[in-house]
Amino acid sequence: MKIAVLNWKMNPNSLESARSLFKDTLGTAKNAKNVFTIICPSFVHIVDSAHLLEIDGSAINVALGSQNISFLPEGSLTGEVSASMLKDSRVDYCLIGHSERRFRVREDSSNIKDRILNAIAFGITPILFVGESERSDAWQDEIIDELNISLEGISQDQISKIIFAYEPVWAISGGGKLVDFDMQHAKEAVIFLRNIVAKLAGIIEPSEITILYGGSVNASMMDELSKIEEYSGFVVGKSSLDVDALQSIYSKLA
Ligand code: PGA
Repeated sequence: MKIAVLNWKMNPNSLESARSLFKDTLGTAKNAKNVFTIICPSFVHIVDSAHLLEIDGSAINVALGSQNISFLPEGSLTGEVSASMLKDSRVDYCLIGHSERRFRVREDSSNIKDRILNAIAFGITPILFVGESERSDAWQDEIIDELNISLEGISQDQISKIIFAYEPVWAISGGGKLVDFDMQHAKEAVIFLRNIVAKLAGIIEPSEITILYGGSVNASMMDELSKIEEYSGFVVGKSSLDVDALQSIYSKLA
């Protein structure tokens, strides 16, 4: 079973469109028996999406995720959304440390660990994003630095609860330039990440670590991506807004 995280980012523009996209996505996702889908709408569309998921009732392989979570558990913090609010809205997963948050909104990386801890405390599974910002020989050093900042003070048991998303920032449709999928690099990166995270989590068997690939995922790249068995799934941004494109991606996993 592969995991598909659908990151809708700041889309769609209206509740009506979000509702329609959610229903269509649900139809595709629940029929993809070999895929567990986590749909991540914007905060304003989460409650409505949760309602649609609940009334459908049959989508046992679909869950809701948020695109962020506050670093504080509660209180006076304008514009933030807490772990308890999210859990109360039937959110089971949350994205943390996405590069668009870190680089475009200038979110402070030093409180990523607090976001992780808040999520875990409320039974929400963190999906932690890591990935080098540009193609360079020092990409592994950048990833090690990111992990050290993000996981400082997180116990081995807590690290083992995290889903990791490897997203080379230069490959994401919104930020970087559109580049061809580099299968060799994607494979090298997942093996590298698995080994470091296994060490940090004190897990002897690196295959127990869940790592997803993100970065302009589309159907044509899936032929190669699905062959890298070290990835437990993928994160889809832009293509998740088009249900036909999503369906084509899923069809490559059949
Ligand atoms: P993309 O987005 O598929 O549009 O590149 C992926 C992501 O940023 O999560």
